[in-house]
Amino acid sequence: MENKTGVKILSTGSYVPKKVLTNFDLEKMVETSDEWISTRTGIKERRIADKSETTSDLAYNAATKAIEKAKISVDDIDLIVVATISPDAPMPSTACYLQKKLKAFNAVAFDIAAACSGFIYGVTLAKAFIASGLYKKVLVVGVEALSRITDWTDRNTCVLFGDGAGAMIFEASETENDIVSTYLGTDGTHTEILNIPAGGATLPTTKETVEQRLNFVKMLGKEVFKVAVSKMALAVNKAQELAGLTDKDINLYIPHQANLRIIEAVAKKAGVTKENVYVNVHKYGNMSAATTIVALDEAIREGRVKKGDLVELVAFGAGLTWGACILKINF
Ligand code: UT7
Repeated sequence: MENKTGVKILSTGSYVPKKVLTNFDLEKMVETSDEWISTRTGIKERRIADKSETTSDLAYNAATKAIEKAKISVDDIDLIVVATISPDAPMPSTACYLQKKLKAFNAVAFDIAAACSGFIYGVTLAKAFIASGLYKKVLVVGVEALSRITDWTDRNTCVLFGDGAGAMIFEASETENDIVSTYLGTDGTHTEILNIPAGGATLPTTKETVEQRLNFVKMLGKEVFKVAVSKMALAVNKAQELAGLTDKDINLYIPHQANLRIIEAVAKKAGVTKENVYVNVHKYGNMSAATTIVALDEAIREGRVKKGDLVELVAFGAGLTWGACILKINF
């Protein structure tokens, strides 16, 4: 029998490291220019985690803000989901490190790997777990320390990424339905266009893999660009269709912040009101699983989102994975 438990969104929180790496700094590291990076991507600067900070530290800082805002006790959290592709270690999950740092010992904790779509996959899990009645207070974190898995000698990728974390807290509700709809997609036939070739069971880390720099992110940018635009436009429309809504019902779009040209192309293809699209890619670059939730938290703090607004998050990433969700922000 279907359980109809709804979800209330209690809060958001985000954290970005203090260190800023500008396009001009990158000019000194690889053969690139502020002009190329700005015109091809819209990125001006990005944040880089301090050597002493790890992924779970970034997650902890974002989660703590969300927990304080939600005015809940960490003891009440019964599920922690961390979306990341740059974990503290291959094993155990970053969610376990986060649980320890938060002292949220009543929570079950695990990671999900859906790359840049990870936060939207996490929101979908929160909805499903709460609807099933299994968990009642869920913390979902999108977090990346991409600087640790970036090849700083490869100008094709190193200018794109940044570090950061965002968190959202959900609770079971008999009256609210703040996760209005979610839509996910996956296509495993393109695993090779965006990946980290070595360090797994296919190609375990050896001296050779390290020398060949195969333990870093590789991307065929042009191929990824094309699929990103078509799948994100599709996801925007699908999530609206599932909710019985249209563009005029959406107060703010929060697209994955990988490239300003992708954001503009998605808006055009999906037929969304351009003025309603939130952009912060110039400040942070692509923070993978952290981008949409950091942007949403920032938009709320800036007053771009008002109580009762509907926001639509949409993302695309390695896998390939994509997804969109429509959230009611009512706190
Ligand atoms: O997070 C989810 C997944 N990621 C994305 O969504 C990213 C998707 N892809 C992109 O955003 C874009 O494809 C890039 C920004 C990565 C690249 O832009 P592009 O317009 O597709 O450029 P390109 O790869 O076709 O490269 C054009 C030229 C090449 O030179 P040649 O072969 O034409 O002589 C590159 O070698 O630009 C060169 N280039 C650079 N030049 C200066 C590539 N990177 C750089 C650089 N600085 N950093």
